[in-house]
Amino acid sequence: MKSLIVANWKCNPTTQKEARKLFVLVKKGVKNIKKAEVVICPPFVYLFSVAVGEGGLGFGSQNCLWEQKGAYTGEISPLMLKSAGCQYVIIGHSERRTYFGETDEIVNKKLKAALEVKLTPILCIGETKKEREEGGAENVLKKQIILAFGGIPVSKITKNFTVAYEPVWAIGTGNPCDTDEAQKMRLLIRKIISEIYNRKISESIRILYGGSVNSKNAANYIKEAGFQGLLVGGASLVAEEFIKITKSVN
Ligand code: PGA
Repeated sequence: MKSLIVANWKCNPTTQKEARKLFVLVKKGVKNIKKAEVVICPPFVYLFSVAVGEGGLGFGSQNCLWEQKGAYTGEISPLMLKSAGCQYVIIGHSERRTYFGETDEIVNKKLKAALEVKLTPILCIGETKKEREEGGAENVLKKQIILAFGGIPVSKITKNFTVAYEPVWAIGTGNPCDTDEAQKMRLLIRKIISEIYNRKISESIRILYGGSVNSKNAANYIKEAGFQGLLVGGASLVAEEFIKITKSVN
C-alpha cells in the first residue's frame, strides 16, 4: 500500500504567486515518487491557482461546512470542494478545535457531510500536553474517536478513510512524538475503531502521524512505527524539505 503524504499549508503562503511557485516546485520534485501518494491541502483560494488535478497530485481542503449549501456566510461545503476537484478534506484539526471552537459534535457533522459526497476525510485527533501529563491521552483519543464516528454506519466508511494522530504538543513545536509512543497510540486507535465497527473496517482505515515531521524523522514513522502516512505542516512550506520527506518514505 502507498503511504499518504499530506501537505497542510495552513494559512500560508500569503500570495497566489508564492502558492503557485511552491506548488510547481513540489510537483516537479515528487514526479518520480512511486511509493507515496502526495496530497496538497492549500488554503481554499489557492485551490485553483495550484491547479487541482495537475501533476498526478491529490488535493484536499483544510476544512469544510457540515451542510452542502445554504445560508452559511463565509463557509465552503463538501459538495463545492468535490466540484472543485478535491478528493480529501482535513476535519477536526487541533487548530480548528482550539481557535474556532470546533467540538467533537461539529467534527462528527462535518465527517457525515464529507462522506455524503464521497470526499475522503482526514480526521485529526490528539491530546494536549496537559492531558498527556495528567495521564489522560488514551481517554482523550477514545472520546474523540467515539464521538467523531457516532451515527456513521459501516457502509459509509470509505476505503480510504484516514485518521491522523496529531498530538497537539507536537504540532509546530519541533518536538515530535517519539516513534515508540506514536506506535502505541496508532495501535490504540486501531483497537478503538475495531471496537466501534470491526477489525476489517479498522484495518481498512489509514492512520497517519502528524506533528513536527521533517525529512530526518519522516521515515521512522512509516518504517518503524507502522503509520500509513504523514500529515506535514511547517515542513510542507519548504519545497525542498517536503520533497525530501516524500523521497525518504519512497
Ligand atoms: P507541523 O504541523 O508539521 O508544523 O507540526 C502538522 C499539522 O498541524 O498538521
